[in-house]
Amino acid sequence: MQAKSRSLALVVLAAGAGTRMMSDLPKPLHPLGQAPLLAHALASAAPLAPSRIIVVTGHGADAVEAALADIAPEAVSVRQAEQLGTGHAVLQAAEMLQGFEGDAVVLYADTPFIRAETLDAMRAARGAHDVVMLGFEAADPTGYGRMIMDGEALSRIVEHKDASDAERQISLCNSGLLCADAQVLIALLRKVGNANANGEYYLTDVPELATQAGLSATVVVCDEDETRGINSRAELARAEAQFQALRRTEALENGVTLQAPETVFFALDTWVGRDAEIEPNVVFGPGVTVESGARIRAFSHLEGAHVSAGAIVGPYARLRPGAEIGNDARIGNFVEIKAAEIGEGAKVNHLTYVGDATVGARANLGAGSVTCNYDGVMKHRTEIGEDAFIGSDTMLVAPVKVGARAMTASGSVVTEDVPEAALALGRAKQVNKPGLAVKLMDRLRAIKAKKG
Ligand code: UD1
Ligand code: MG
Repeated sequence: MQAKSRSLALVVLAAGAGTRMMSDLPKPLHPLGQAPLLAHALASAAPLAPSRIIVVTGHGADAVEAALADIAPEAVSVRQAEQLGTGHAVLQAAEMLQGFEGDAVVLYADTPFIRAETLDAMRAARGAHDVVMLGFEAADPTGYGRMIMDGEALSRIVEHKDASDAERQISLCNSGLLCADAQVLIALLRKVGNANANGEYYLTDVPELATQAGLSATVVVCDEDETRGINSRAELARAEAQFQALRRTEALENGVTLQAPETVFFALDTWVGRDAEIEPNVVFGPGVTVESGARIRAFSHLEGAHVSAGAIVGPYARLRPGAEIGNDARIGNFVEIKAAEIGEGAKVNHLTYVGDATVGARANLGAGSVTCNYDGVMKHRTEIGEDAFIGSDTMLVAPVKVGARAMTASGSVVTEDVPEAALALGRAKQVNKPGLAVKLMDRLRAIKAKKG
């Protein structure tokens, strides 16, 4: 059978201590592009459609497993009670791989930039070899395992600490990623000992054990940027820059207009359609989709929001989770939308809060309107019908409905439903007192003069 069409099990190593992060948060949960590092590792392998995902947890296991349930509910976890090395870590998945026919790919939770194409290349190489490891030419190989080649064959990997001076001259380094038949891998790992400088069970002993067993091992080489692991806050910050640079380039290549790409920040799952336009200083939190031809104007912040084609958002707009902006709708400056559907062609142009609401097609919300959705204990809904006109400074005290084609007068406090086509006046009636303004000012000036 073609290697690439075989079933695939992922084994993701996420048990390490991550000591150099100096953090109470387990390393796999540190955010990159507003998603945990672990989510990046899993996302890189998602196009390969793994039929099993096994995450090996240890340090901070409870938190990592809780996050995993969100990121990939289909994944299972297994605990490595003591961190006895990378080989020992993979072996924890043995029981879950029992009877699995297919390849296993080992990934690290702290290595977020692996491309699906690279994993594909590893799987393709599996057609001709039993064990495939991912290597890279290191600018500075210090600390990495060195790959000892015999032509195309990988004879063994020697860890930096265990390497001779001559071996330390080798610049082809081990990324740690591996692809092998799951049962072959487990059988080889059972033979791994811990007679080395660290007293650990090394995954890197696998190629040599494979060769001894008459199997073949080889290396697929990728760019160093792709295998960059995260061990410290400084590396995390550099990785964020690398992530953003990649996503900006990708957006431009996909036909998105970015006037100042270096000022736009993406999340792992941001999706922006072709011919969408993103002005400078826009931040995407998790869960945003922007359809083709929509425009996000400068200084806007979006999370958990969907913006349809032809809509314009901002400048200075904030879309919070559950904001659904319809086709050709307008969301203007200093407007906040949360858990609300804004209908096709509706306008919410200035200084307005719309939360827990539906706004019908072509409705217009005047400046300073507020859906008063929270009574201090519970949230309530506001429904605004099609073609309704909400006058400036209307307080819509939810739960409340404004019918289609209805109007509210400026400054109204609307506490009762407004029927279709009705005009609601919910404010004090205006009274004019002739000459009183001048009299009042004179009196105030006199008081001030007396006080000196
Ligand atoms: C490992 C490789 C080395 C390679 C380097 C690339 C081994 C023995 N060495 O070294 O050849 O050049 O990665 O970065 O494999 N982990 C566990 N349980 C453990 C130990 C580790 O889950 O008991 C996890 C860690 O959380 C991490 C990954 O495995 O995600 C790698 O472990 P790490 O300790 O960083 O290995 P290195 O010493 O860097
Ligand atoms: Mg490491």
